[in-house]
Amino acid sequence: MSDAPAPSAFDAVVIGAGAAGLYCAAVAGQLGVKVLLVDHADKLAEKIRISGGGRCNFTNRDLDPRAPHKHFLGDNPNFCRSALARFTPADFIALVQKHGIPFHEKHKGQLFGDRASEDFIRMLQDECGAGDVAHWQPCSVRELAADGAGYVLQTSRGTVRARRVVIATGGLSIPKIGASDFGYRIAQQFGLRVVPPRPALVPLTFDGEAWAPFAQLAGLSLPVRIETGEKKDRMAFDEDLLFTHRGLSGPAVLQISSYWREGQPLRIDLAPGVDVAGELARAKTRSRKLLANELAQWVPARLAEAWVQQDPAWQRPVNEAGDKALQQLAQRLSRWELVPTGTEGYRKAEVTAGGVDTRELSSQTLESRQAGLYFIGEVVDVTGWLGGYNFQWAWASARACAQAL
Ligand code: FDA
Repeated sequence: MSDAPAPSAFDAVVIGAGAAGLYCAAVAGQLGVKVLLVDHADKLAEKIRISGGGRCNFTNRDLDPRAPHKHFLGDNPNFCRSALARFTPADFIALVQKHGIPFHEKHKGQLFGDRASEDFIRMLQDECGAGDVAHWQPCSVRELAADGAGYVLQTSRGTVRARRVVIATGGLSIPKIGASDFGYRIAQQFGLRVVPPRPALVPLTFDGEAWAPFAQLAGLSLPVRIETGEKKDRMAFDEDLLFTHRGLSGPAVLQISSYWREGQPLRIDLAPGVDVAGELARAKTRSRKLLANELAQWVPARLAEAWVQQDPAWQRPVNEAGDKALQQLAQRLSRWELVPTGTEGYRKAEVTAGGVDTRELSSQTLESRQAGLYFIGEVVDVTGWLGGYNFQWAWASARACAQAL
């Protein structure tokens, strides 16, 4: 990538050198577009670096571009269909293979690098190099204005003109590594609607006092079935749950958090696939074990121990427990209903749901109603499930846009 003082006129300026911006600049550059890529952060693509626990879960093999609503949410969950159909996980895998990056499949179609996320950053930098992309970083954009011929940008490295501008500044998650509301402000400046952003793929928190009995379980993880919403809005996941000091996390909770709305209850089956009521009724006729020990067959012993502390009627041998107490215990374990007080916020959220309203954008090119102004990646109201879906949207939207520049 060239870092020389660049001329002040470009075909396109891409603002934000994260996953979407890097890939968009690279593809456009390789198609012959004269591109400038700018980013205000000191370090390049920090979010890719920390992604997937440092290994970058770069896509998901289970993504079905014909039915994106299965793995994406937003006011129009099918908006992303066109871009995802034209650049699939297999296409990105081919790029990764071309660069000789080793990877493996983990859980439910999730693909991770074998080494470090740095491999993917280097790959994107090399692709930008092949497209002769000019790259200014750190460089902040103070002002963006449209004139008849295109756009004028006032940046910390001088004035730049371009026919087209691509906003790839991501969402609000993890402010300490450079997240900003720049993209939403630019949308509003040009009269484009923004769906109110909110933290997603985020741990949920509970009232301190009510949570106190469970705080001791911090660090404990177990497979559960979790759900929220009613009828057609009902959403459920079978994943691992993690207890934290302030509430709940783990893949089950991160996934459901994107669908959870304030005030709504969560319902959790802590022993999925087990008929706890039937098992306890049978145990009553033949066992003298403490109820906590019976429960420990189906849930971790620490949880069983904490669980029975909630009711004195549960702190006795199963054969001495009343039928009603056993039924209540089974019911509560299989359908634990609780209302989170909030989320851990953008500090911990993996993504930001909401964003630039898809009704303002072309699903083919990602160009907005404001001619020559494009929005790609997480800044758009398209949010993927945990598991590589958000990166695949970044790559696919970047490519669709780059081909139109
Ligand atoms: P991204 O956030 O990547 O890039 C935006 C860029 O814009 C940044 O470089 C920022 O500095 C720059 N910028 C912001 N404001 C600016 C301004 N005013 N001026 C100039 N530049 C500005 N997804 C996935 O699919 N698999 C995974 O494994 C993970 N793991 C993961 C872990 C963690 C901890 C987080 C926080 C997130 C993930 N994600 C993920 C989500 C994924 O990282 C995210 O969806 C993509 O990085 C979004 O790509 P974008 O390019 O849109 O934004």
